[in-house]
Amino acid sequence: MNNNIKIAPSILACNFSKLSEEIIAIEKAGADLIHLDVMDGHFVPNLTFGPPIIKSVRRYSKLVFDTHLMVQNPDDLLEEYANAGSDLITVHVEACNNLVETLERIRSLGCKAGVALKPKTDPLFLTKILDKIDLILVMTVNPGFGGQKFINEMLKKITVVKSLIGSNHIDLEVDGGITQDNAKLVVKAGANILVAGSSIFGNGDEKKYKLNINSMR
Ligand code: DX5
Ligand code: ZN
Repeated sequence: MNNNIKIAPSILACNFSKLSEEIIAIEKAGADLIHLDVMDGHFVPNLTFGPPIIKSVRRYSKLVFDTHLMVQNPDDLLEEYANAGSDLITVHVEACNNLVETLERIRSLGCKAGVALKPKTDPLFLTKILDKIDLILVMTVNPGFGGQKFINEMLKKITVVKSLIGSNHIDLEVDGGITQDNAKLVVKAGANILVAGSSIFGNGDEKKYKLNINSMR
């Protein structure tokens, strides 16, 4: 077991009809962060939840709330996401009009700032903004839906991003299709935070959450 690896279960795969109970159960099972997938029906075709839902479950967990914004023009609601209790806010580079301003605003709201890369996004621009970010999220599926298959070619991209980070204190989070089988490869490539929905919440059997998390480390 590698305790330097942090596991961030994505509540997208949980049973939304008992969201607070799922969050309590997943924290008890050993999760390190709660990954919150916000989708707007524009940047991605799917639609999920926003600040009111995040705020309503904030009191059920002490874990880091890791808000992944898959929304076009995230700027308008950043304050609401921060006030709802996000500790970390990650935006997609293609969704921002002025990425640096958005990242600075996230930090000024007291949150850590992350940038997400879709599978086709070239990571090279990151070299210019390393001092503006606390986390890089490499997507290993096309954003929008849980339960997709991990794109193997992304392993190489994770190693490229890891070397771009160099000695900077920036987390490397990987999101999409992570399973107990490929987690090791993803970590070997350089990731230190693993997001996983389906392979942790599985068929909703709460008794298995701890095993699902541990076997991913
Ligand atoms: C996809 C989301 C992911 C997703 C991961 O757009 O960003 O966080 O919920 O789910 P799995 O682990 O099922 O691929
Ligand atoms: Zn996500």
